[in-house]
Amino acid sequence: MRMEYISHNVEETQKIAAEFSKTLSEGDVLCMYGDLGAGKTAFTQGLAQGLGIEEYVTSPTFTIVNEYMGRLPLYHFDVYRIADSDEMYEVGYDEYVYGRGVSVIEWSELIEDILPQKRYNITILRGNEADDRKIIKEVKE
Ligand SMILES: Nc1ncnc2c1ncn2[C@@H]1O[C@H](COP(=O)(O)OP(=O)(O)OP(=O)(O)O)[C@@H](O)[C@H]1O
Ligand SMILES: [Mg+2]
Repeated sequence: MRMEYISHNVEETQKIAAEFSKTLSEGDVLCMYGDLGAGKTAFTQGLAQGLGIEEYVTSPTFTIVNEYMGRLPLYHFDVYRIADSDEMYEVGYDEYVYGRGVSVIEWSELIEDILPQKRYNITILRGNEADDRKIIKEVKE
């Protein structure tokens, strides 16, 4: 399954993500693709809002993973600075990804070898205007 959305600003991206969050359940994994500043964290903020998380979601670049509690727990990974997949196991990757929350992974292409097969791929592409984005959602089974 593949869905495409067009966003014209950060609020629209967050709204698309918040709507999507309502369809999520325990153990779902979202792999985020898109270049620096594409809006992966912005999208995750919308997901968090949709899951009823009030805390402000920031990029976990230095901590690798941040946890939030909402309708479902949210585990927000940013693996941009990871050296190799082994480092992921040290932070408890398996417990998160095969756990009871929703895992969101920014820069997931860097750990492609250990991503679960069943997941959502979310790709954010830039458009013509500075704030235009195309958001592609794919279900991988
Ligand atoms: N339509 C849009 N959707 C999302 N973000 C947008 C949009 N238009 C402009 N922006 C801006 O683009 C930036 C996206 O930053 P964000 O941190 O979410 O990117 P990122 O993909 O997580 O980058 P990084 O790889 O550095 O983590 C924000 O400053 C946001 O305000
Ligand atoms: Mg980010």
